[in-house]
Amino acid sequence: MPLLWVLRDVLSLKGTKYGCGIGQCGACTVHVRGRAVRSCQTTVAAAAGAPITTIEGLSADGSHPLQVTWQEIDVPQCGYCQAGQIMSAAALLQATPRPTNAQIDTAMNGNVCRCGTYLRIREAIHKAAAMQPGQTPQTARASR
Ligand code: FES
Ligand code: FES
Repeated sequence: MPLLWVLRDVLSLKGTKYGCGIGQCGACTVHVRGRAVRSCQTTVAAAAGAPITTIEGLSADGSHPLQVTWQEIDVPQCGYCQAGQIMSAAALLQATPRPTNAQIDTAMNGNVCRCGTYLRIREAIHKAAAMQPGQTPQTARASR
């Protein structure tokens, strides 16, 4: 059984979305062992015993820097892809606290947004990077 089925249908964690079901859109992205994975392509057996984070668990109160900047910049349009976008972005910032545009584009490449919110997503990631400890908007800009 895919992990996505367990999250949505068994645990009722509906923030993670079913898009393509074949690993091509990124709507179902969650973290397993801290890495962004496509939950439609991850069997629940493969994830057994591992720490799993969904959009519901990214922060207790919506205070993760990405959640804050996503709202500030008003990133979503229809919203369907956005949980997956944020989970991919969160994994990127864990690995690369000050990503360049090129690093953002590479990391977010597998997350499709049919509404075309890509430029706002990139801006929100840069802003969130600047909110992390030791970062300032100036240093974040300089790293692009
Ligand atoms: S639903 Fe998993 S990648 Fe599209
Ligand atoms: S906001 Fe509509 S698909 Fe991304």
